[in-house]
Amino acid sequence: MSSQDVSSRRVDHASQRRVVDAAIVDAAPTGADLLDTESSVVGSPAPDTPAPDTLGPDNTASDTPVPDTPTSDTSAAGGRDVAFMELAITAARRGPVMDPNPRVGCVIVPADGSAPVTGWHRGAGTAHAEADALRQAGDSARGATAYVTLEPCAHTGRTGPCADALICAGVARVVYAVADPSAAASGGARRLAEHGVSVQGGLLADAAREVNRTWLHSAELGRPFVTLKTATTLDGRVAAADGSSRWITGPEARADAHRLRAECGAILVGSGTALIDDPGLTVRDESGALVGRQPLRVVVGHRGPRPGSRLTDGSAPTEHLATHDVREVLTHLQGRGVHHVLVEGGPTLTAAFLRADLVDEVIAYLAPAILGAGPAAVADLGIVSIDDARRLTITDLRLVGADARITLRPHRRAPLEERS
Ligand SMILES: NC(=O)c1ccc[n+]([C@@H]2O[C@H](COP(=O)([O-])OP(=O)(O)OC[C@H]3O[C@@H](n4cnc5c(N)ncnc54)[C@H](OP(=O)(O)O)[C@@H]3O)[C@@H](O)[C@H]2O)c1
Repeated sequence: MSSQDVSSRRVDHASQRRVVDAAIVDAAPTGADLLDTESSVVGSPAPDTPAPDTLGPDNTASDTPVPDTPTSDTSAAGGRDVAFMELAITAARRGPVMDPNPRVGCVIVPADGSAPVTGWHRGAGTAHAEADALRQAGDSARGATAYVTLEPCAHTGRTGPCADALICAGVARVVYAVADPSAAASGGARRLAEHGVSVQGGLLADAAREVNRTWLHSAELGRPFVTLKTATTLDGRVAAADGSSRWITGPEARADAHRLRAECGAILVGSGTALIDDPGLTVRDESGALVGRQPLRVVVGHRGPRPGSRLTDGSAPTEHLATHDVREVLTHLQGRGVHHVLVEGGPTLTAAFLRADLVDEVIAYLAPAILGAGPAAVADLGIVSIDDARRLTITDLRLVGADARITLRPHRRAPLEERS
């Protein structure tokens, strides 16, 4: 959405920078904290290592020492490949999650037996993972094997093509996990192969995809991944009859929602919520302090935030998009480098995203409270028969303090022409 299409007005007076150029701060703790220090030299192979293809319960790569013996289900060479790719995935998790760029890790294993090195991408404008690792490897990259979580890029952005950097450094073999789906950057594997580098793709692809699930989604579909968050009573209300809505859920659920915000590039509310609730829509840590890097706050609707409201306080970049077209909103945000959008309501905006079939995930906080009156989480969807109910699959269910948190995946609707 260009500014000609709708009135897109920045209301952030403190910072006029594009969100993609915002300071790089990794707000959310990552599994990469398992790596011991900033030092990126991987320890020597240890005896008695666990099976290298074992992932932790949260599907993160375990910080497994490099095995030097075959395991029951992998060859020695395959086991080493898996273990080094796990290290690369762990390194990738160190990247900032809301950055416009993907999180990528790279481990270079020299042929001369010297210590492997690990690099990772720290966000837009900084060295890519391969460049970071190559810088540390120096001459030992000649004849080495590089393990990369995303296919090395073939395009020149703010840094040169990673495929070329690997070729120039004399790397003999490249193993990557996930193919790069972006039109601009793909083709690195082919380029490497054309220059005589041995290339293998797809190793631990599922685990590597999980690290970049929203970035890959936006690269593949051309729009950000959309998470819809609701916080309701047991009877589905988001506010009481008098309009009061603070607080439906308890402090643990609200802290959890702040962690969710920290993973997103933009937080959306409709004009109604902006005007009625005067929300801050910032990410705060457990002490209540603002974290360094804030998602873009977006108000959707013709009415913008009131002057003097919290959304105009400059604590985070804020944008008012004077439109009702949610698809346009996503196109606009994609253009700003946002790959994960959090829709925080209210009911009218939520319904608009559901009607357009633009919700990829729902995170519903359910409070053990009943109101009996007040607005529901979702405005009228035009559904009159139970047969037409929007169905979802529960993918996770847990208690957060006194509240339940349910994660769900909506079923995609058949195209209109296929529905009777
Ligand atoms: N408990 C919770 O988690 C939670 C979260 C959010 C909100 N709420 C509650 O929700 C209530 C507000 O409900 P609401 O429905 O007014 O909120 P809303 O969905 O935030 O805002 C509705 C307004 O957004 C604009 N809008 C944007 N896209 C639209 C579209 N596609 N179609 C129609 N209008 C669109 C319209 O304003 P314009 O006429 O200006 O264009 C519309 O009046 C409040 O009581 C609030 O407390 C609760």
